[in-house]
Amino acid sequence: MPLRRLGRSGLQLSVLSFGSWVTFDNQLDDDLALECMQNAWEAGCNFFDNAESYAQGKSEAIMGRALARLGWPRHRYVVSTKFYWGIHGDVPNMRNTLNRKYLAQAIDASLERFGLDFIDLVYCHRPDPNTPVDETVWAMHDMVASGKALYWGTSEWSAEQIRAAWEYADRHHLHAPVMEQPQYNLLDRRRVEEEYAPLYEEPIGLGTTIWSPLASGLLTGKYRDGVPADSRAALPGYAWLAGSLTDADALAKVERLRPIAEELGCTLSQLALAWCTLNPHVSTVITGASKASQVTENFGALHVIPLLTEEVVVRIEDAVR
Ligand SMILES: NC(=O)c1ccc[n+]([C@@H]2O[C@H](COP(=O)([O-])OP(=O)(O)OC[C@H]3O[C@@H](n4cnc5c(N)ncnc54)[C@H](OP(=O)(O)O)[C@@H]3O)[C@@H](O)[C@H]2O)c1
Repeated sequence: MPLRRLGRSGLQLSVLSFGSWVTFDNQLDDDLALECMQNAWEAGCNFFDNAESYAQGKSEAIMGRALARLGWPRHRYVVSTKFYWGIHGDVPNMRNTLNRKYLAQAIDASLERFGLDFIDLVYCHRPDPNTPVDETVWAMHDMVASGKALYWGTSEWSAEQIRAAWEYADRHHLHAPVMEQPQYNLLDRRRVEEEYAPLYEEPIGLGTTIWSPLASGLLTGKYRDGVPADSRAALPGYAWLAGSLTDADALAKVERLRPIAEELGCTLSQLALAWCTLNPHVSTVITGASKASQVTENFGALHVIPLLTEEVVVRIEDAVR
């Protein structure tokens, strides 16, 4: 498994990693989640992504129990979580915030659910317009300085917001944001390829841990004939995804990719995942799966990367234009 540096930090992440959004607790119980993590690990994955809000904290607990049962040495894997939405309902200071009070309590609760002494990567899951950025930067700095987390970053912040946070931290000699977690896939590219471009340069050297590389499953080609009963779009509470997963324009692009995958002898999922790794500013591609067999298929994308020659990439670009 190729490793990449997380931006200008010294941390090395496997180029394909594994996350738990939607799946842990909803689709994967303790045993199945462990099996998926084990499959990913055996394929060389060293990074497991999570968030406080996934399954209202249950996703962190499931991952923590899996890590305990798997018994991997703590220095061999990187684990993350994210804070913003909160899990205590409509309680003042505990919901939709990055204020100091919430962040200080959220990290302690996450550590308890995971059963870990520290979290490697912690993210501010969305920007908070109601907390001054200096308050959030200080709170995240303190989280790192206390040893409860090792690196901090953002998720779906604008380039301007990331720069403001980084510059404040730099000016005050605080731990600065190291990475951003944006959506990135063949059908959603602007932010990673254009908006963040200046941030990849020194001195910021932003890393990216990208999410939904298969556009929630759309890029697997499984939505061609409507919503399969065992798919994400059919899950209770996820009907809001069905529109984008059955969008005619997007489906037509996916169908234009199908013959390219067939010629390469790979699946559409593998083609789409391998393509994400071609962007050198992607530090790691966080994959998701509702079945262990999907993990095995998706990590097989590693063998497809060398097949993506310049000529193939031009054909892929034409297909999704
Ligand atoms: N920072 C953020 O705001 C944010 C947001 C979203 C995700 N994330 C992170 O990124 C990770 C990945 O995101 P994602 O789960 O949306 O990734 P994705 O790769 O776009 O979608 C994964 C889903 O697609 C389906 N799938 C995957 N491989 C398949 C295959 N080979 N064949 C058929 N179906 C397949 C599965 O759903 P079904 O089988 O149920 O259809 C699976 O759960 C998350 O787990 C999370 O850690 C972060």
